[in-house]
Amino acid sequence: MEMSKSELEAQKQKEIMERLKIRLAKTSEELGRPLTYCSLCFGCQMNAKDSEKLEGILETIGYVKTDSEDADFLIMNTCTVRENANLRVYGRLGQLKKYKKKNPHMLIAICGCMMQESLVVEKICQSYRHVDIIFGTHNVFKLAELIEQKLNTNKMVIDIWDGTSEIVEDLPSERKYDFKCGVNIMFGCNNFCTYCIVPYVRGRERSRKPEDIIAEIKELVADGVSEVMLLGQNVNSYGKNLDEPVTFAKLLEMVEEIEGLKRIRFMTSHPKDLSDELIEVMAKSQKICKHLHLPMQSGSSKVLKDMNRNYTKESYLELAYKIKKAIPDISLTTDIIVGFPTETEEDFQETLDVVRKVRFDSAFTFIYSRRTGTPAAKMECVATEEEIKDHFNRLLKEVQEISKETCSKDQGKIMEVLVEGPDEQDDRLLTGRLSNNILVHFPGTADLIGTYQNVKLIESKGFYYIGERCQ
Ligand code: SAH
Ligand code: SF4
Ligand code: F3S
Repeated sequence: MEMSKSELEAQKQKEIMERLKIRLAKTSEELGRPLTYCSLCFGCQMNAKDSEKLEGILETIGYVKTDSEDADFLIMNTCTVRENANLRVYGRLGQLKKYKKKNPHMLIAICGCMMQESLVVEKICQSYRHVDIIFGTHNVFKLAELIEQKLNTNKMVIDIWDGTSEIVEDLPSERKYDFKCGVNIMFGCNNFCTYCIVPYVRGRERSRKPEDIIAEIKELVADGVSEVMLLGQNVNSYGKNLDEPVTFAKLLEMVEEIEGLKRIRFMTSHPKDLSDELIEVMAKSQKICKHLHLPMQSGSSKVLKDMNRNYTKESYLELAYKIKKAIPDISLTTDIIVGFPTETEEDFQETLDVVRKVRFDSAFTFIYSRRTGTPAAKMECVATEEEIKDHFNRLLKEVQEISKETCSKDQGKIMEVLVEGPDEQDDRLLTGRLSNNILVHFPGTADLIGTYQNVKLIESKGFYYIGERCQ
């Protein structure tokens, strides 16, 4: 059979990787030490997944991972969803200059969502000349080619695409965990919420074919993975644009059938098109985790309209109640923005009202950040900075109090966790994750990492439990 355009592309990249491997092996031999890489990643799960792909390419061409930024190759994958994310990146870039001075072999690459903004790229070209490679979100698969170009020309390489319809499959990936893994089911976003930069930096929505997704998960399972997280900015609109349309609920049913897979998670669900079919599939599934992240952003129908979210306070509440009724032990979490330009005190009260009614298991709260180029950036702000801060603090307090209560509801029960690793604070403890996404810390040894264990939830600490393994 003739190769498709993306298969040809994958093959081309693999050939470049082979060439680079030989070339870098020579450099390493001359230096008398392995070449190292350091990978920094900011932002969401999509970025984390892209970084695994970047690391896969770097490992394939012979770089060895290090946590130190004083490495032979440094790659920074950026996020631009809020302004403070950008500021952190500039600070970091400035600091890297000293390593580059010391090590003439060092290459610095920067990629991700921030690079899709032309002003950012301009600023880096002008003020951060020590950067070697700049690319965006659509051409992550091309890293090897960009490195080769840099080595051949010794000039700053800049390769930003406005968008793409291509999905290049089957390239290496370096997984962060052996036992769990994110799987892209779609890319981009078509929703254009008025505050959000993501559709501009991630391009239009594209779904992967179900057979490609299933094949990837089967391979992961054969390689020891038992939990997958299906990734998309709005998984509920998965499959709508495929030649043969498939719903997200149908995709979940297909994934459910994969033998050896134990847990299925997904992110993120937009409330506007969460279907009854999905609730039904979740309710009867043995593998889909008892957790739904359902970003509400605001509880005011007026603000939701200004945000272009396509649902109201009432329809959100109705949906939340429906889900809780169909799946009683589900944990509902959310994202909330405070200080959207048109948000008044009354609108904020509506948000508090929904928070009190739904009683989220946890909520990420953000202060609205103006993103140039988005419709909301042109809206006038009705509240002062002090009022917004006050709203933020009041919301946080409310959210935390509720979450402390809802999260402790299973105290005393015995439940199953997937053991994810040693506890970061106390190395006599392990950290495991419940189906509902809450963490449990309990005594145990490293050989249990990656296994499923029954633990007794002895004491709730608000956002996590202290537990004990049941033998
Ligand atoms: N696709 C997901 C959200 C991805 S961005 C969804 O629609 O739910 C993650 C979160 O960042 C959003 O849910 C929102 O709460 C927050 N966010 C996005 N843009 C923001 C902005 N300009 N200022 C503050 N928070 C923002
Ligand atoms: Fe942004 Fe809205 Fe798309 Fe989520 S659905 S990524 S908030 S535009
Ligand atoms: Fe940030 Fe890009 Fe994700 S802007 S939140 S890393 S899609």
